[in-house]
Amino acid sequence: MDSIRVFAPATVANVACGFDIFGFAVDNPGDQIVLTTSDEPGVRITDIIGDEGRLPREAARNTAGIAIQTYLRSINRTDLGLDIVLHKQMPLGSGLGSSAASAVAGVYAVNELLGRPLPTLKLLPFAMEGERIACGSAHADNVGPSLLGGFVVVRSYSPLDVIKIETPATLFCTLVHPDIEVNTKDARFILKNEVSLKNTITQMGNVAGLIAGLMTPDYSLISRSLVDVIIEPVRAILIPEFNEAKQAALDNGALGCSISGSGPSMFALSRDAQTAEKVGAAMQQAFLAVGIASEAYVSQINQQGPKVLVD
Ligand code: HSE
Repeated sequence: MDSIRVFAPATVANVACGFDIFGFAVDNPGDQIVLTTSDEPGVRITDIIGDEGRLPREAARNTAGIAIQTYLRSINRTDLGLDIVLHKQMPLGSGLGSSAASAVAGVYAVNELLGRPLPTLKLLPFAMEGERIACGSAHADNVGPSLLGGFVVVRSYSPLDVIKIETPATLFCTLVHPDIEVNTKDARFILKNEVSLKNTITQMGNVAGLIAGLMTPDYSLISRSLVDVIIEPVRAILIPEFNEAKQAALDNGALGCSISGSGPSMFALSRDAQTAEKVGAAMQQAFLAVGIASEAYVSQINQQGPKVLVD
């Protein structure tokens, strides 16, 4: 095999109460990468489609490029020549895990191309390097679920300890991306470094409740636990009509609604597809009322993670 095309899914990080420790993958959108071997050693980005020229073309400064380079160094294969074509199929700065999906697609693709020398879980630290250059923090709550599929808990960063947990088969996610941009680095910068004991206790209760609710499964418990008293109140100001869109989701039957990753996308969880569609339409209407266009996506939790696409 001298060429491979891989899709990696978008992700919802934080999932309300789990800042930097929870994330899940969705079926769409997602990014695609095509890797082709070359006689000339080194990793090159030959084209990026769908970014309007905004992403770095230098491999070491691109999330997919750096993930692949770090991987090749670790397996002593810097002799390999690779040309990358990246197909960005989701908006940048959207809170949908765009930088993570590219990094995951890249590292998964090269590992497949080489006959899978490493098991999938071992690819995670390389994909995290993509996040480090994208926003200055090597968090795993987007790359983890994009790589492993499903709902992922990052129990610890040092040492890295990542757990994939069961979710109800009929849980549906609505994602609404209002047509504005939030830079993850900025959205992290505005957070407070200190948290009160009261809020820590509330948040820990919700973290535990959400995991128990997903695994039982218990929809009422999921609903009561989809609450973030630490991050959402600070970041909500970055999203016009956040409160109205969230209320619209809850009024239309969502179990809960919060910011997807660092925003501006918002996610809601519902117990069936019909409710999830209705929730999406209501959230879009809330944005439209103040003249903000948006895209909505409805999908189940993606259990597969990246996949090889055959042309
Ligand atoms: N956990 C990260 C954050 C996800 O909220 O900043 C964004 O990539």
